[in-house]
Amino acid sequence: MKGIFVTFEGPDGSGKTSVLNSVVEMLNQTSKKNDYILTREPGGNRISEDIRGIVLDPRNTEMDEKTEALLYAAARRQHLVDTILPALNEGKLVLCDRFVDSSLAYQGAGRHIGVYQVAKINEFATDGLQPDLTFYFDIEPEVGLARIKNHRQDEVNRLDQESLQFYEDVRAQYLCLARENPKRIIKIDARKSLADVTAQVLALLENKLAEFFK
Ligand code: TYD
Repeated sequence: MKGIFVTFEGPDGSGKTSVLNSVVEMLNQTSKKNDYILTREPGGNRISEDIRGIVLDPRNTEMDEKTEALLYAAARRQHLVDTILPALNEGKLVLCDRFVDSSLAYQGAGRHIGVYQVAKINEFATDGLQPDLTFYFDIEPEVGLARIKNHRQDEVNRLDQESLQFYEDVRAQYLCLARENPKRIIKIDARKSLADVTAQVLALLENKLAEFFK
């Protein structure tokens, strides 16, 4: 595979999406404009966006935990085949808002269905593809949730209705993944200001891209 696969992970309210927007602005100001794609999970193509609609629908309160994990994995499979692999094969930088680590943290740990089991179904869905680099935006759940309440009162999806304990379990799993994969996962302190966090990510990414685009 010629391209480079970079994922962005972390809880809602960590600033992940804002930082991603700044990364895209940075790329658009350089000659790398046509060398990257920005995509997200669950979603990224028509079928996976349809699955996203089902899995994040606040009305679907009766959804079984394993059904949820399988739907995320199904959306991921289609996303991989339709979007991620073709771009990597063309030598592009793929920036992806969430990937397998989200399922390990939210379904495996948050929903208590077992990180190992969720890893297994995702290995099947992705044929074992791993990101080259992952930024994990770490923040205490209370701080992240307070930020969401201030900024996004209009948007309540099914996962926004979860308890604090759920988000604590999610964070513990992300921290565990970061410890277990020190080469791939860079932990970013997301309590810092958005400007500081953005500057840190841009600097790290520019280093990585300098290697990649040289
Ligand atoms: P979204 O509104 O895109 O939130 P964010 O901006 O925080 O990414 O909703 C995505 C939600 O889906 C988010 O709460 C995390 C959840 N999710 C999982 O639980 N498992 C997964 O595998 C993925 C990709 C997302």
